Amino acid sequence: MTVLPLHDRDGEIWLDGRFVPWRDAHLHVLAHGLHYGGGIFEGERVYDGQVFKLTEHTERLHASARELGFELPYTVAELDGATRELVRRQGIGNGYVRPVAWRGSEHISVAGAGASVHVALATWEWPHVFSAEAKAAGIRLGTTRWRRPAPDTAPVRAKAASLYNICTLARDEADAAGFDDALFLDYRGYVAEATGANLFLVAGSVLHTPTADCFLAGITRRTVLDLAAELGIEVVERHIGPDELGDFDECFLTGTAYEVQPVREIDGHRFTVGKTTTALLEAYEELVHAPADARPAAGAGAP
Ligand SMILES: Cc1ncc(COP(=O)(O)O)c(C=O)c1O
Repeated sequence: MTVLPLHDRDGEIWLDGRFVPWRDAHLHVLAHGLHYGGGIFEGERVYDGQVFKLTEHTERLHASARELGFELPYTVAELDGATRELVRRQGIGNGYVRPVAWRGSEHISVAGAGASVHVALATWEWPHVFSAEAKAAGIRLGTTRWRRPAPDTAPVRAKAASLYNICTLARDEADAAGFDDALFLDYRGYVAEATGANLFLVAGSVLHTPTADCFLAGITRRTVLDLAAELGIEVVERHIGPDELGDFDECFLTGTAYEVQPVREIDGHRFTVGKTTTALLEAYEELVHAPADARPAAGAGAP
């Protein structure tokens, strides 16, 4: 199957308040966001023509912009409306939405003041990140030498493009070593997350997840914690050392794109796709396909 490059597709992209032909959605080479990493983005998933947790994602886009010191020139309601309209115009049933915002090209100074802020939204069909076999059997992770940075060295709460340099480096190294993805430790040496997803581990029937104090506390992570509470699964959020990995029976990743993705191995430690993983995977699947008005409100069921 030939996959068209992202820049060479039919349809439209929403750019700075207008729907423009897909191939004309350009930015200038002197954009501040490109030179100094002043860009933020979101990843959203479309199920049955509806964006799952759209407003939470749009609110996080706004929060990420503020973490980088700028304000988006469109309200959450305006961006939500534009996203729904774009998904409708593109005829997306099950796919992905990529909102992105960046500082423009008014000057070359590293200072942010005086640079315009631009926003774009794009959507395309994208059913799954991993194959059906990987979804069933689990993927393999290798720990990367890169670490999630300390909160006083980078804007760690933002979904900021600049934080993804180490994700690309880690992911390329993992691919070259034959793993499906990389596992990051944090600056203190605790287990953190994968390159685009949060980590969960199961010991017996108790679910453990690293405290999200220096990496993105994902919207899917929150959703899975809420589902665990509904299912009566005990949850422990804590710092987890890499020397503990051998104590766990199950492992999975969560993310908008990854959804609930079982992990079968980290650096030689083996895990099964057991009953806790399966229960949460199925509950998540059911939730994302439920009609929007049948879904619990954000945060409902949180421990
Ligand atoms: C680095 C990183 N961590 C975690 C996540 C999971 O976040 P969410 O569940 O909000 O998609 C993502 C994906 O957005 C990510 O890129």
